[in-house]
Amino acid sequence: MQKNAKDSFIRIQELRKSISVHDEKYYKLARPTISDFSYDKLKKELEMLEKNLDPLGLFSESEQPENNQFSQMVGDDRLESFSSHRHLEAMLSLDNTYDQKEFFDFDQRLRKLLECETLPYVVEPKIDGVAVSLTFENGILKTAATRGNGIEGDIVTQNLLHIHNLPTDLSSYSLPEILEIRGEIYMEHEEFKRINEDRRKGGLPLFANPRNLAAGTVKLLDPKEAKKRKLEIVLYGLGGLSPTGFFSRQSHFHKSLQDWGVPVVEFIDTVSSAEEAWHSIILLEKARHQYVYPTDGAVIKLDSIELQRQAGSTAKAPRWAIAYKFESERQDTLLHDIILQVGRTGTITPVACLSPVQLAGTTVSRASLHNADEIRRKDIRIGDRVVVEKAGEIIPQVIGVKKDHRNPESIPFEFPECCPICQSKLVRLSGEAAWRCPNIKCSDQIKARLEYFASRNCMDIDNLGEAVVQQLVDTGMVGRISDLYNLTTEQVLSLEGFAEKSARNLIASIAHSKSRELWRLLCGLGIKHVGTAVAKELSRKFRDLDTLLESSHQELIEIDGVGDTMAESILEFFRQQENIIEIEQLIRIGLNTKIDSSSSRKSLKLNGKTFVLTGSLVSYTRQQAAEIIESQGGKVLSGVSSKTNYLVAGPGAGSKLEKAKKFGVETLSEEEFIILLGTD
Ligand code: IVH
Repeated sequence: MQKNAKDSFIRIQELRKSISVHDEKYYKLARPTISDFSYDKLKKELEMLEKNLDPLGLFSESEQPENNQFSQMVGDDRLESFSSHRHLEAMLSLDNTYDQKEFFDFDQRLRKLLECETLPYVVEPKIDGVAVSLTFENGILKTAATRGNGIEGDIVTQNLLHIHNLPTDLSSYSLPEILEIRGEIYMEHEEFKRINEDRRKGGLPLFANPRNLAAGTVKLLDPKEAKKRKLEIVLYGLGGLSPTGFFSRQSHFHKSLQDWGVPVVEFIDTVSSAEEAWHSIILLEKARHQYVYPTDGAVIKLDSIELQRQAGSTAKAPRWAIAYKFESERQDTLLHDIILQVGRTGTITPVACLSPVQLAGTTVSRASLHNADEIRRKDIRIGDRVVVEKAGEIIPQVIGVKKDHRNPESIPFEFPECCPICQSKLVRLSGEAAWRCPNIKCSDQIKARLEYFASRNCMDIDNLGEAVVQQLVDTGMVGRISDLYNLTTEQVLSLEGFAEKSARNLIASIAHSKSRELWRLLCGLGIKHVGTAVAKELSRKFRDLDTLLESSHQELIEIDGVGDTMAESILEFFRQQENIIEIEQLIRIGLNTKIDSSSSRKSLKLNGKTFVLTGSLVSYTRQQAAEIIESQGGKVLSGVSSKTNYLVAGPGAGSKLEKAKKFGVETLSEEEFIILLGTD
């Protein structure tokens, strides 16, 4: 093999591997770690290399990348736990560019292919959400599916049914018998902010942007959880239809969507040439920040559906459309201070205080600086002009310093050695990037811990938000969790903003929280690394707090999701004398520390039994079936193994049924499952 070709080949392998990793993070986990821009660059490099591969066969057979070029494939978002839906028409991706010339090249290619002087297009916003395909049969919504691998997607109807503007019945309009409408699920900035704010108070990691949060929500296994997060939908595209030939232009299809009263994009410009389309793209770039949905570009489509058909598609994308992506907006502004925030475990986060600047539709005056190393690496100094960008259009970041504007007298930022709140000397554990305040009595730590305890994911105490906690701690009324339960109405009345009724409400909400489930208390105690999922597992396994207090390392690591580090952190928490004293106080006050005895383990019918669900069920959604099994002490797993007790198989069961037979796992029909539950 020639040297250059060999280098290309090695690079192709590297790029494929790296893109696969990023695809998994983006499509399946909804947690990408690189920007769209960097990802698009990797894809483009791979595409070029694949295109330039020696056509005369310098590669030996075994070295030849598969015929199906990797860069030409669509990412795959499918997960084991969802049933599949085959799209009537493939759900493709879009070719994209950040470059004006490439946009005009696209037009030129099309004009040549279709032998036309000029081509009419429509220009629409590119919504940065999660692609979805709605299938209507005789006007009634039958399924909502994700793109999946483009051919088959996951059925997520249950998670989308609560979307207030989801069209479910269009039967009063004249529609093709079967119609796939394509669109995007997204989350509004306000809702994104609300959820992240809740998580911040709860000490949970923040979502980076609304797209990831929307994608994660669409794929939640519990529709009840999905319902707690407000999603929206907007529809813009035509998928498969039967009979065909109903719509002749993309702009007409858009008009029909409007007539049917379904949510459509606000901006759709019908233009007669690429030059006009370019003008429209520029307008869109300016207007897009006023839209309720996040946008990351413009989509330019041939207006004529017949010409679209003639142009056809590659394996990955139609030839008749292209996305022109906008680069993230950046601004420079003055960094007038760096302050330190103290989290509930003492973690110190440096925050940049900026002269307010307009960025992607909002005013930015704060940005996270992550940690001390980041400040040193970028050499960020107070008084600098800094460049700010919104990652995923939402969270502002300081991406660099304009060194040529630097005051020659400025000095490097010295990370303080002491906590700005309690003056304790900061410590840094080996291997950790963050500095911590070691004083658990530090008032900012106390505030953060109380806010976390009261937050929705923990004890869910109404009326006990940030401002109230601040006053309670600053006045010295509350210093630890147990103090909350000793508060009196008179004390609360003495705080700012409280009247008789609101004071009584706060006391009532706190009292009400005494009977919350055990896992909420376990979560609220703030044991390092223990979030809701592990708290639920701990409560399920140990059944009461006393038993958990006596648990061993071995017992802990037997739990799903608990490794050595977490087990050690749990044991360490219970070794601390002040934690034990506090827990004893909480027990004395009467907080619930047990799993409800009416559902006590021994009496549960399905205790310890493992189930796998497959195929479609009639009486329940899979989620409902899973909840029933869990409420009876059983567990639902996604894959069949020799240890599985039952496979519940509805119509359409496939490989899991085969596997169950192979392992001799008992298979239940839906009726048999209902009999096992003892319900009718
Ligand atoms: S049309 C076959 N129009 O962008 C062409 N897509 O990066 C189908 N998207 O998978 C796409 N806004 O999920 C179209 N106005 C718009 C869009 C749009 C967002 C998404 C879509 C697509 C992805 C490609």
